[in-house]
Amino acid sequence: TTGPLLDGFGRVHRDLRISLTDRCSLRCTYCMPEQGMEWLARSSILTLDEIEHVARVAAAAGITTLRLTGGEPLLRPDIVEVVRRLGRIVGIDGEPLELTMTTNGIRLEEMLPDLVDAGLRRLNISIDTIDRERFRALTRRDRLDDVLAGIRAAQASGLRPLKLNAVAMRGVNDHEIVELVEFAIAHDAQLRFIEQMPLDAGHTWDRTTMVTREEILAALEERWTLTPVLGRGGAPAERWTLGSTASDGEPHTVGVIASVTAPFCGDCDRLRLTADGQLRNCLFSTSEYDLLPVLRGDDASDAAIDRVLRACIRGKLPGHAIDDPSFLQPSRGMNAIGG
Ligand code: GTP
Ligand code: 5AD
Ligand code: SF4
Repeated sequence: TTGPLLDGFGRVHRDLRISLTDRCSLRCTYCMPEQGMEWLARSSILTLDEIEHVARVAAAAGITTLRLTGGEPLLRPDIVEVVRRLGRIVGIDGEPLELTMTTNGIRLEEMLPDLVDAGLRRLNISIDTIDRERFRALTRRDRLDDVLAGIRAAQASGLRPLKLNAVAMRGVNDHEIVELVEFAIAHDAQLRFIEQMPLDAGHTWDRTTMVTREEILAALEERWTLTPVLGRGGAPAERWTLGSTASDGEPHTVGVIASVTAPFCGDCDRLRLTADGQLRNCLFSTSEYDLLPVLRGDDASDAAIDRVLRACIRGKLPGHAIDDPSFLQPSRGMNAIGG
């Protein structure tokens, strides 16, 4: 089949998020249990060639942006080669795909020169707190300094815009909202606060611990006058300017990703590939489309991969159903979906 990756609700898919591993160097309480998880079997993890093959077929079908995720994508031993190979892929418009990564920042300082050389175009770094003790309690690892070094390296690299992600949590970092934004500004970055979604390993999410978009905005408005940024497109983050300007002349902004109280599913253009070769049409989908038998079978043709891509998109629902009484959390955890 040819033509755009169109689902049953008129949404054209242009963004493929590729999870490279389910492993991580942190153990954030909202993501993984202390002892880690039962990791995906090594034999089921896609090889570099397999990932590249899927990405090439996706690009030929109209995907323009690739985002590398995890777990922690920098734990993948061949990460630089993954970036180099994916960075060479050209979309149907003749332009190289936009190649981006979401990382926890650990090991970024040492790896960034090679990643930039290999073709990485942009970075989002997760940092929920800049308080050492809180960081250690939340991530169960004493690695704040490594993350800070990663953020400074990203700032120096010139990859822009640099975005920082913070999941807002009541009683954990909700008093740090203003401080986190000031930290981001000082590092030439945009802070985005994220409403916690029901994707935690323990399935313990509930609305009372989730800090809402409204609460985040109230905290920000105590310090700044927020002006909405127009032209969001299909982006998860809603953004506001803060009234000040960076050295490059761009206004400082803050973002909120309000998946729960202000869902953006109507504009969703995202598709996900897990490290073990499963295509997902939604963060919350309960079914997956298995590419492994295609990639490792007798007919690993472009056409066969394209068929699975399109079947996955045809099966996409209009949106998540977190508010439905019958909502069921997907069995796969966030660490294996990649956000
Ligand atoms: P940019 O293109 O740089 O804005 O990236 P992004 O915000 O789409 O990606 P990132 O990996 O930084 O994710 C930030 C947060 O947004 C994470 O909590 C993701 O789970 C969430 N997110 C990303 N895509 C989607 C989506 O399609 N649906 C929902 N509900 N959340 C998403
Ligand atoms: N809800 C919202 N965001 C989450 N992340 C991890 N788990 C959740 C959740 N349950 C965030 C990470 C990272 C991004 C990829 O997703 O903190 O910034
Ligand atoms: Fe897309 Fe699902 Fe996210 Fe909604 S919840 S924006 S449908 S991935």
